Amino acid sequence: MTKIEKIVLSYSGGLDTSIILKWLQETYGCEVVTFTADLGQGEELEPARAKAEMSGIKDIRIVDLREEFVSDFVFPMLRANALYEGQYLLGSSIARPLIAKHLVGIAQEVGADAIAHGATGKGNDQVRFELAVNALDPSLKVIAPWRQWNIRSRTQLLEYAEKHHIPVPGDKRGEAPFSIDANLLHTSTEGKILENPAEVAPDYVYQRTVDPLDAPDAPEIITIGFEGGDPVSLNGTAMTPAALLSELNGLGGRHGIGRLDLVENRFIGMKSRGIYETPGGTILLAAHRGIESITLDRAAAHLKDEIMPRYAELIYNGFWFAPEREMLQALIDQSQAFVSGEVTLRLYKGSASVISRTSPWSLYSADLVTFEESPVAYDHHDAEGFIRLNGLRLKSWAARNGR
Ligand code: ARG
Repeated sequence: MTKIEKIVLSYSGGLDTSIILKWLQETYGCEVVTFTADLGQGEELEPARAKAEMSGIKDIRIVDLREEFVSDFVFPMLRANALYEGQYLLGSSIARPLIAKHLVGIAQEVGADAIAHGATGKGNDQVRFELAVNALDPSLKVIAPWRQWNIRSRTQLLEYAEKHHIPVPGDKRGEAPFSIDANLLHTSTEGKILENPAEVAPDYVYQRTVDPLDAPDAPEIITIGFEGGDPVSLNGTAMTPAALLSELNGLGGRHGIGRLDLVENRFIGMKSRGIYETPGGTILLAAHRGIESITLDRAAAHLKDEIMPRYAELIYNGFWFAPEREMLQALIDQSQAFVSGEVTLRLYKGSASVISRTSPWSLYSADLVTFEESPVAYDHHDAEGFIRLNGLRLKSWAARNGR
């Protein structure tokens, strides 16, 4: 085994990473620095500090990354209206490059030669962490215990914990828990009965949204302000990115917005089924498309929509810090200069519907489109010629087919 001097571990304080911490100390016999990111997962982070201290960790980093997560990762992605396979808002995918960035920063600061993460050997997250580390500091080694140790099952994991006096939380004893990943953008739940896509997900799977059937009977009307493609205010009140998203999560959750039951194609080559809850993100996607509808030129909007699946796939596959993602980002960002204004939405029983939009930069011309008499120079005869020329090749084609 390669000699490692110092490791920075991505540490949640949960069962898996606590076991990983112990295993790293035993296997490499070197100093481990723990890094715990607050991404708005809604969990207490101080217990992570206490647990790390109990394991003899001297350098414990707990960092609030909520604002950076939303302003530098979630919002740039939202500018693209990114959806993987037409539906997934990429809540886990977009968090990994941020965590990796900080793991690398700490490793460089403390002179560590490796970083370690608790992602399993079957998922996308290992790919995302490691590609990001490769791109940010090619000299760093990556340790992925789940691919290295001989723990092969949940049961063996619990046995290891028992043997090393690592406390096992009540719900994690006996029946294995769901695999959950949560942050300000979403909650993702996988595993157990969800592994059978024919099985309907029971209601207790959902963590932050009510069933739309149980949502309030009265709709709620909200207005979101945009500036240069990014949401900046709610109902006229300016808010920081994280505060805004968190407020929308509350509103969306109450109205049952943003639930998704999805079978997706993992980069690693298998299909997986998961339940996603992205209340605030779902509202923001509808609102952003609403403001773009009046501020973007047609060709600009269509070009964005063409590259969107490619851009989303890059993020899903872990290529956030790759040149091609940055090139597409530059294109997307340039399109957003005039994407400013306000969008009003109705939240009602699982849906977020745009009901009005305004912008000082609007391209919409009522004078041009009106069914009434128009003051704008628009010659109806132009439409006649336009259709005649476009129809020319269709006439040739139809005549040939009829021959
Ligand atoms: N399948 C999702 C993705 O690849 C979520 C992965 C993390 N979620 C989890 N429950 N472990 O982005």
